Amino acid sequence: MAQDDLFKKLIAHTKEYGYIFPSSEIYDGLSAVYDYGQYGVELKNNIKQFWWDAMVKMHENIVGLDSAIFMHPDIWKASGHVGAFNDPLIDNKDSKKRYRADDLVEEHIAKYQAKIDKDVEKGQNKFGDAFNKEQFLATNPNVLRNQEKINEITARLTKALTSDDLVELKQIIIDCEIADPISGSKNWTDVRQFNLMFETLLGSTADGASKIYLRPETAQGIFVNYLNVQKSGRMKIPFGIAQIGKAFRNEIVARQFIFRMREFEQMEMQFFVKPGTELEWFEHWKNLRIKWHKAMGLPEEKYRFHKHDKLAHYANAAFDIEFEFPFGFKELEGIHSRTDFDLKQHQEFSGKKLQFFDPESGESFIPYVVETSVGLDRTFLSVLSGAYYEEELKKENGESDTRVVLRIPPALAPIKLAVLPLIKKDGLPEKAREIIDELKFDFTCQYDEKDSIGRRYRRQDAIGTPYCITIDHDTLKDNMVTIRDRDTMVQERVLITNLAHIVDEKVNMKNLLKKIF
Ligand code: GAP
Repeated sequence: MAQDDLFKKLIAHTKEYGYIFPSSEIYDGLSAVYDYGQYGVELKNNIKQFWWDAMVKMHENIVGLDSAIFMHPDIWKASGHVGAFNDPLIDNKDSKKRYRADDLVEEHIAKYQAKIDKDVEKGQNKFGDAFNKEQFLATNPNVLRNQEKINEITARLTKALTSDDLVELKQIIIDCEIADPISGSKNWTDVRQFNLMFETLLGSTADGASKIYLRPETAQGIFVNYLNVQKSGRMKIPFGIAQIGKAFRNEIVARQFIFRMREFEQMEMQFFVKPGTELEWFEHWKNLRIKWHKAMGLPEEKYRFHKHDKLAHYANAAFDIEFEFPFGFKELEGIHSRTDFDLKQHQEFSGKKLQFFDPESGESFIPYVVETSVGLDRTFLSVLSGAYYEEELKKENGESDTRVVLRIPPALAPIKLAVLPLIKKDGLPEKAREIIDELKFDFTCQYDEKDSIGRRYRRQDAIGTPYCITIDHDTLKDNMVTIRDRDTMVQERVLITNLAHIVDEKVNMKNLLKKIF
């Protein structure tokens, strides 16, 4: 299936099956804002739990925090967000559409990459096993020409962005003859900087309200609480503070569904270390974080690292973990070695010492920080897009059928088991309820008696429920039920007394954690 089609189907599926709804839909929606439905919220909570367990529960030296969204406005001056949390925007004078100038250039570069990929595919089809991809990439004249274009434009873009050269940024757009993707017009305004922070007022205007910001990242709440946590928890370096929470950014172009939103959630951890040891810790966290993603069991080749060649002025190492979404490889998580920049800035702006006293060496120092920062909504999208399958099935009568199945990692699945009485009478519903009443303390269960059993199986497949339990007339005599596995569709007859153990073996969060630790 073409990736565009897959993405459209996935978006429609998430709405039809109660995962994600466009926000304020009955008022025609609000651009790039989404609500999580009855299954979406369960999956989201399970992802949070997996992250929290992996970061806090599994590490004696990492503790949690839940800081407020509203913070003193000077925090954002100290962090650099007031002065520099900007994106370069450009408007098309004809279509009146607004774009991120760097995105337009990156999309243009991606077209050259797509040409290279297409040539490789053609070569592969033509020569089969005899095809040598590396040699082809190094020698084919078309590939070399396109690669040279990529290198040239990327170098210009990087230079323009690092030096904040907005005139050059516009010149790249003109030189590359980039047109508005909607109207085809090349009639552009100049490039301007646009600050991404949302502002609001604290206090009533009569009292002299003050301007504050909705936090654009959760990290600063951790930095400003560094000393509170260190002292009250008697934490010794190295130690970490983890936080999950909402962040807000007035993105110029918010799109690709929940990939880029104006209100989203982050799961961030700041790890405070002794200066000089930060790059070792950086490697440690880089490896541990990709293990966390891969533990979910989605195809491994969908993950890759992307090294930042252009480092922010405060960082001395940075990598992204990228995931292959239906619209290509994109950032899922950022891992940054942020030196002592943030604590030093807050020390200067607040006038409060933010140091660590090392009783062993008798020295005081500002710790260095390694940050891991992953988008909860992007992780959600990675799980759903990696789990969505349309399968052709052969029926017993030889006809074919299709099923849509969400192969969500069982530990993260919103509903762990559905209990289905074969018919709505003869005491079968009562037996089903009895089983749910026993299992509901450990697992999220769902009762369903509507429609044929086949349709009910399909509904649970589409929701991603790992197990369906069917109650039939024999159940009343032998206390056995049929348990059906979502992925293999294999059905087995088992004793009701064994159900809790069987389900737990499959859906326990421990299964994911044990792949990492
Ligand atoms: N404290 C570092 C920080 O905020 P970032 O790369 O700007 O770094 C971290 O954001 C992660 O937050 C990203 O890797 C992404 O997963 C998520 N994220 C950022 N902007 C987002 C948006 N507009 N919508 C959804 N997720 C976003």
